[in-house]
Amino acid sequence: MNVQEVIARVEKIEALPTLPSILKKILSIIEDPKVSLQKITEFVTSDPTLTARILKMVNSPVYGFPGRISSVSHAMVILGLNAVKGLLLGVSVFELMQKSMIGLWEHSLSTAIFARIIATRKDMESPEEISIGGLLHDIGKVILTIAFKENYPKLIDSVQIKEGFLYEIEKEYFGITHSEIGGIVAKKWNFPLKLIEPIKYHHKPQLAEKFQKEAAIVHLSNILTLARGVGYSGEIFVPFVHPFAWELLNLNEKELLDIFREAEEPITTSGEIFLSDE
Ligand SMILES: [Fe+2]
Ligand SMILES: [Fe+2]
Repeated sequence: MNVQEVIARVEKIEALPTLPSILKKILSIIEDPKVSLQKITEFVTSDPTLTARILKMVNSPVYGFPGRISSVSHAMVILGLNAVKGLLLGVSVFELMQKSMIGLWEHSLSTAIFARIIATRKDMESPEEISIGGLLHDIGKVILTIAFKENYPKLIDSVQIKEGFLYEIEKEYFGITHSEIGGIVAKKWNFPLKLIEPIKYHHKPQLAEKFQKEAAIVHLSNILTLARGVGYSGEIFVPFVHPFAWELLNLNEKELLDIFREAEEPITTSGEIFLSDE
């Protein structure tokens, strides 16, 4: 299969019969460039599970907002349209993440936590939005699992044998990586560049064109998650932090330790966030 065929299949993901109908609906809402906060609020509040999940997430230690956010419309106002679209997607792919790779959800949540903490320390404008980038950074793996459910799991298993990084093995096999796939679908869903670039370049932040710092934060957060050993994302090694990202973020060893310390509580308390869905 050549790379064009891979991309074509990924781009028609919502036509696949295996995609749950609720997710199809969510994707069509996200994809609409003119969708309003009000329409998203109406959609979310019409679904009790989605409502519960959004409220659980915004009130969880992943986000650490002071005070309780008790309504979906309040959450929307605090987070803004793009973060809400991303969050909506994040909470609705929960089952698929669980199914495609046990531990990917925990890996994603932890990356979101680290990203929020680093972004806040670096005085970034919207730490929540960058954190959503962390939550969705490996979305390409979910897409590949849906689109290639016969081959992709085998590819993941081969990481153990080949002793390489998953994205290198993907490049060899598909001609494209999960991060590039994530970038393609994020663009298709009309996410802003600020969200597309950290997803697309989380393994190569030096290639980001406009949002290098955002990409560097998600890059580092993914590595810190692997170093801390939270969840599972198909990797057996902890990759190096790219010097470009390290320099751009300008962190020292003490700050890094502080970041680990600050992330510890949210990481240990948020893993089971949706297990008691009602
Ligand atoms: Fe990745
Ligand atoms: Fe990852």
